[in-house]
Amino acid sequence: MPSFGFVSALLVFWQSVVSFIESYFAPTSKFSVNDIPDLTGRVVIVTGGNTGIGKETVKALLCKNAKVYLAARSEDRAKAAIEDLKQTTGKEAIFLKLDLSSLKSVKTAAEDFLKNESELHILFNNAGVMWPPSDQLTVDGYDMTWGTNVLGPFYFTKLLLPALFKASVPENKSRVVNTSSAGSIAGLSYSGSGLNFATFKDSPVRRKYGTQVLYTQSKLGNVVFAQEFARRFGDKIISTALHPGVIRSELARTVADLEGPRLQFFARLVLYPTSQGALTQLWAGTSPEGADLNGEYLVPWARVGKPRSNDPSLGKELWNWLEEQVANT
Ligand SMILES: *[C@@H]1O[C@H](CO)[C@@H](O)[C@H](O)[C@H]1NC(C)=O
Ligand SMILES: *[C@@H]1O[C@H](CO)[C@@H](O)[C@H](O)[C@H]1NC(C)=O
Ligand SMILES: *[C@@H]1O[C@H](CO)[C@@H](O)[C@H](O)[C@H]1NC(C)=O
Repeated sequence: MPSFGFVSALLVFWQSVVSFIESYFAPTSKFSVNDIPDLTGRVVIVTGGNTGIGKETVKALLCKNAKVYLAARSEDRAKAAIEDLKQTTGKEAIFLKLDLSSLKSVKTAAEDFLKNESELHILFNNAGVMWPPSDQLTVDGYDMTWGTNVLGPFYFTKLLLPALFKASVPENKSRVVNTSSAGSIAGLSYSGSGLNFATFKDSPVRRKYGTQVLYTQSKLGNVVFAQEFARRFGDKIISTALHPGVIRSELARTVADLEGPRLQFFARLVLYPTSQGALTQLWAGTSPEGADLNGEYLVPWARVGKPRSNDPSLGKELWNWLEEQVANT
């Protein structure tokens, strides 16, 4: 009998193919970076802003005069990106040190930010890891994918809630934009395996999961969470989750398979550039229409999609689990 890991990997593969085809042939975007309103006086954080679609997002925001905090793990890489963006936009983003795989680092980052700013208008939860080796755990003992893509962003968002609330006015609510499946090569979709709470930390069942399944699960976690967040805070904060499209991205760095020259060639041929990948999240975060998108799942390019899941009881269960993890930090 084939193992669970094998069957679910096949399922994930099949969903990837379908989702890839759907987003590859998505209609042309009606929204472009020129449609972003002036953002003078707006304070924004972009996690993973040093590379890929995060960097493109920072660039577009700087061009529209936002005050942008570029949150990243590596100071060197962040500073290089800030310098590079200064050359192209004439504006300077601010470095915020953040390692989403460590709860301690998340807390320090939020404190650093809150020392200097009392208001946060837009939070782009853009950073994520794709397929790290499945034996990797975070410093806090969580599955690396789950810890970095779900628990870390949850804690970061939670700590920043006071600033999001403070910035929010009825005619201009603050926004949290969750890039689910950041830069996904395959555009994995979410209906498959559901959430298995026993795999969020190391366990025998986690070790049976393939790294792709763990990734897909973390991305489902993002969507479930965004929906729960929308139910809880929708009167004050607009929350969306989105699939950015099939994008060439640095995330592929973690996908060993893509290192072969033939696959590199394939990627350049069929995948959209990162500037295109930033469009849907910029639409959600800055456009006037974005104000009406609370709880929606967005798909390329700048459109409302059908969520693969919307189960309030799962949302609540996940929320409670996440709260428990950070209760004593
Ligand atoms: C709302 O925010 C946009 C930028 O996102 C800004 O251009 C506009 O002036 C703001 N409107 C109000 C009423 O604050
Ligand atoms: C906060 O402001 C201080 C003083 O201007 C500065 O040294 C520090 O780098 C700032 N921190 C962040 C995260 O912006
Ligand atoms: C985005 O997703 C992360 C992880 O699921 C979650 O912790 C965070 O609070 C979410 N934000 C919103 C507004 O949904």
